Amino acid sequence: EKGTYPHYMLKEIDEQPLAIRKIIQEYQDKDGKLTIDPAIVEAVNAADRLYIVAAGTSYHAGLLGKQFIEKLAKIPVEVHVASEFGYNMPMLSEKPLFIFITQSGETADSRAVLVQVKEMGYPTLTITNVPGSTLSREADHTLLLYAGPEIAVASTKAYTSQMAVLSILAEVMAKSKGYDVDLDLIHELGIIANAMEVIFEDKEELEAIAKEYLETSRNAFFIGRGIDYYVGLEGALKLKEISYIQAEGFAGGELKHGTIALIEDGTPIIALATQESVNLSIRGNVKEVVARGANPCIISMKGLEMDGDRYIVPAVHDLLTPLISVVPLQLIAYYAALHRGCDVDKPRNLAKSVTVE
Ligand code: M6R
Repeated sequence: EKGTYPHYMLKEIDEQPLAIRKIIQEYQDKDGKLTIDPAIVEAVNAADRLYIVAAGTSYHAGLLGKQFIEKLAKIPVEVHVASEFGYNMPMLSEKPLFIFITQSGETADSRAVLVQVKEMGYPTLTITNVPGSTLSREADHTLLLYAGPEIAVASTKAYTSQMAVLSILAEVMAKSKGYDVDLDLIHELGIIANAMEVIFEDKEELEAIAKEYLETSRNAFFIGRGIDYYVGLEGALKLKEISYIQAEGFAGGELKHGTIALIEDGTPIIALATQESVNLSIRGNVKEVVARGANPCIISMKGLEMDGDRYIVPAVHDLLTPLISVVPLQLIAYYAALHRGCDVDKPRNLAKSVTVE
């Protein structure tokens, strides 16, 4: 039930700290160490490459899961859009393991790939929010998200929970391979949960940003570099599906290869700057679009902020910034849709679970 909340989406955004804390609890052993089913550790260790398959927001979580797993556990990962996999089957490694990321566990496009790779005899793991869902039952292994039911069509808490579980999978695999992990993940995820609550105190400010930049806009662009780019893709998806503003995410460096032609006077550009390594270069991209009339909204992280930044998220571990930087984007999308009179929880033409291919 949505209780006192006007919409499920807002309630589910607010539930994210709770979901992260629940995940920390569920994936801890009695000695307080992060743990996952040993059969999954064995299956991942037996694989020479992981293939993540997913759709929509879950695909965006997969792009970040690849970063976590490759950086911490040093296992090569490919990420594929489920609906394309059948036509453009990648060349598979000798010992692939397929990971399906799906909030509902019912997405037909992902299930079609699961059926196909099972027929080929490959091992499978589903990461889902719904115990007993089709993709959970049909895969060899399951990791649960423990986010509680997600009702709003726009996925919010499932995305951050998917990333939290993927980071735990990455850390546990790294340790099982004997690598030094200079990241106390339980501690860092706790910081994330607290930082989310700090952002919630700024809802009025984020509503003002939505009003200022998006109330009458036809389109909006999200830019970032490195992992900020992937969060931008998710921010754009959130905005387009509930507010119907045409929104696209781009890698900062790609703008000049085409998209910059679309910039007009007042075009909103939401730029993410949470990574020290690309902080100056993304700001360079912002200057390029401002010179063409764009209206920039820079969202940066404490410690990397510069004059004129429109919103600053609290500092968290640099690999885990997506769990935090997406929160203002979710809220901006929510308020933009609200101000434009859209049906936030049930956007037109969309279903919560896409059970047709
Ligand atoms: O249940 P799933 O995670 O498999 O769903 C995948 C997509 O349909 C879903 O993430 C969709 O993109 C959301 N509406 C995004 O908010």
